[in-house]
Amino acid sequence: MATPTSSSSGRTWWKEGTAYQIYPASFKDSNGDGLGDIAGILSKVDYLKELGVDILWVSPMFESPQIDMGYDISNYEAVHAPYGTVEDMQALIDACHKRGMKIILDLVINHTSAEHAWFKESRSSRDNPKRDWYIWKPPRYAEDGTRLPPTNWRSYFSGSTWEWDEHTQEYYLHLFAKEMPDLNWENEETRQAIYDSAMRFWLERGVDGFRIDCVNMYSKRVGFLDAPIVDAAVFEQPAWSEYANGPRMHEFLREMNQAVLDKYDTVTVGELPHTPDPRHVLRYVGANDKQLSMVFQFDIVDIGQGASGKYRFQDWKLPQFKATVAKWQQFIEGTDGWTTAFCENHDQGRSVSRFASDAPEHREHSAKMLALMLSTLTGTLFIYQGQEIGMINVPKEWTIDQDYQDIESVNFYHAAIKVARETMAGNRQAIQDETDYIRRSIQILGRDNARTPMQWDDSNKSAGFTDRPEGGWMRTHDLYPEINVAKQIDEPDSVLNFWKSMLRLRKLNKDLFVYGNFHLYEPDNENTFIFAKTTFPVGGTTASAGQAAVVMLNFTGKDQTVTLPSLDEVGALRLQVGNYVDSAASEELDLVAGPGQQRTLRPWEGRLYMSS
Ligand code: NOJ
Repeated sequence: MATPTSSSSGRTWWKEGTAYQIYPASFKDSNGDGLGDIAGILSKVDYLKELGVDILWVSPMFESPQIDMGYDISNYEAVHAPYGTVEDMQALIDACHKRGMKIILDLVINHTSAEHAWFKESRSSRDNPKRDWYIWKPPRYAEDGTRLPPTNWRSYFSGSTWEWDEHTQEYYLHLFAKEMPDLNWENEETRQAIYDSAMRFWLERGVDGFRIDCVNMYSKRVGFLDAPIVDAAVFEQPAWSEYANGPRMHEFLREMNQAVLDKYDTVTVGELPHTPDPRHVLRYVGANDKQLSMVFQFDIVDIGQGASGKYRFQDWKLPQFKATVAKWQQFIEGTDGWTTAFCENHDQGRSVSRFASDAPEHREHSAKMLALMLSTLTGTLFIYQGQEIGMINVPKEWTIDQDYQDIESVNFYHAAIKVARETMAGNRQAIQDETDYIRRSIQILGRDNARTPMQWDDSNKSAGFTDRPEGGWMRTHDLYPEINVAKQIDEPDSVLNFWKSMLRLRKLNKDLFVYGNFHLYEPDNENTFIFAKTTFPVGGTTASAGQAAVVMLNFTGKDQTVTLPSLDEVGALRLQVGNYVDSAASEELDLVAGPGQQRTLRPWEGRLYMSS
């Protein structure tokens, strides 16, 4: 058993380390079956070390029927056979540790797969001892006698959260697919079984912590009331007010720490949707009240999502993006809480396509500009596979029926089209417009954008991801000959090498970039994003000596003139990095930039100035 070495306050490995998320199915196939695997990950550990990664986060690689790509686990103590074995995972854990890296796994304990032995028992009869391990409820009946589910809650994957079980004549709850029943955290015995099987089993094998799936959904409001109606066209309504951040949530997390996590030197990063209030988030991440080391608060990746449905894209403007970054940077200042810096994961469209430009002439500058932004932000930095080479969204021509695979977007599409046909009957143009709009929204926001195979090289039409002649389990992005790792390793000015140098710079200047204060300038400017990072509070009256940096980013495809803000406390600033190859040359005659000076930023240009 590992001895605890770091406290959860102060400076720790998990604050300073750069984390990299691996999606096993799409990372690297070692045995030619078209699916990524553990041996494939193992073969790339040195690549990740070289990139500057300190912590690997491996998305679910447990035994699973793969209804939701492994987030439906049928056995926590086994590995999905096509990915490998527990021994392969041990080899990966050891390989990380040998290189001074840490490794964390996904802890998916809001639900299991319906194929999990626990659920099979639970559904076998109403008096089975495990019946109460899941959430079973009797039906309601309409006045005409029609059987209705216990509530009107909408599942994340469309339709109801309740599935009728013919055999035992009750409904069970599933916030996600019907093949993913929710565990009943109110049951003490269930919680203990989760701690043993999903957590201790892997901690004893050396894993360094967990990314915790749906971390605020275990405690439901047990009254099980209907959710307010916000979408009158359908019966099922968004219901997170009823199941997120429920009354026993903090108690459960404290218990999990006391019973399990405190016995090891671990990190936890919780997935925390539906929680917009910083004071509320601080209750989860305050170091004193041990619950979570940090969370992913999703405002940044929710930008552009529709209010009544995720895949109803809404245009957004830069001030919203800047305010979001500023809010989740600053909320920990003066507290003992901690934050994360990220803008991609396996549930999101690619950041270059969503927040910048993936046009051929702009995509490299865009990817580097976002890299510059992220690597200078406070908090633990998380990069998602492929982000380091600037992978972009799938092309518009890809079709829902043939190319998209994700249960969430495919179900959404079919449900939305069904409603359109029912409610717009006869108006073919309106139905077509609605279909086009949903397709476009999925092309921007869809999870499949993040799940295309990693583009390693141009050795075959699968971008070196697999040797299988028919290709990988999912279509490879058409642009792999232009965007791939091998090509970028060889190009000094590639996106990949830019990320490498930024991660080095971040490590060399931790006080400023990992732990510093964040200050936003010109919040209403719709074209540029200018912020300062300082080792002291900006605007203080004392001329304290400290380190400072100013980051200036052009979020448009046109030249923009910017004014260097004043940071009286530090005086002159010097250009440190730019994302244009000639950034340094363009400042040759004027290396020292003082406050009030103007600069012109070219399309999607980013510059970092630092105090000397
Ligand atoms: C969040 C995960 O990130 C997502 O991929 C998954 O579908 C749901 N939780 C359900 O586990």
